[in-house]
Amino acid sequence: MADYWIAPSILSADFARLGEEVDSVLAAGADLLHFDVMDNHYVPNLTIGPLVCEALRNHGVSAPIDVHLMITPVDRIVPDFAMAGATYITFHPEASVHVDRTLDLIHDCGCKAGLVFNPATPLDHLHYVMDKVEMILLMSVNPGFGGQRFISYVLDKVREVRAMIDASGRDIRLQVDGGVKIENVGEIAQAGADTFVAGSAIFGAADYRATIAQMREQLARAG
Ligand code: DX5
Ligand code: ZN
Repeated sequence: MADYWIAPSILSADFARLGEEVDSVLAAGADLLHFDVMDNHYVPNLTIGPLVCEALRNHGVSAPIDVHLMITPVDRIVPDFAMAGATYITFHPEASVHVDRTLDLIHDCGCKAGLVFNPATPLDHLHYVMDKVEMILLMSVNPGFGGQRFISYVLDKVREVRAMIDASGRDIRLQVDGGVKIENVGEIAQAGADTFVAGSAIFGAADYRATIAQMREQLARAG
């Protein structure tokens, strides 16, 4: 079986009890925390920044924190997130004027870097920077909100990126974000993804442990 990672998106957590929520989801078997950063500019919503990331580290979170930047400009905030304890920092290439420079900046700050592609955004950048990413994130909803429906044509894109990663021979995570739940996680894995963001499917459930266990069951069946 592939090395599958489940990444709960804290966007759907109860922010008034964030430390407790994060502790629960990690105790329930999550592999990393997905941290959605929105700016009411690149996407029509506003969420959390480096202070919250730092607060989670100070709270005692030692799991990897996967910061998904849905903001423009990108570069200004990258060092702040690195200082705040981010493990991965991913960004949308169209939100950065100098994609190569931003990837270098993320690495120079000591973090792992990744590019994020919206459902209809072409993958062209990847042809040039495959050796500069540790994560490729394919959006399976239009970014901005949790709880949206999975856009199924993205499965073809997952297969396409899986082939690119395999051809590169590099160790790159292939993550899918948006509308992922127990019912479709197996199909997404079969298409080639290995890292699964799930916000509402996990935080909207009464029992985080049971939900993550059911996801893993589906993943085990997917092979
Ligand atoms: C959407 C975010 C997602 C979101 C996923 O812009 O990037 O990470 O939280 O939420 P669900 O799993 O509910 O679709
Ligand atoms: Zn996200």
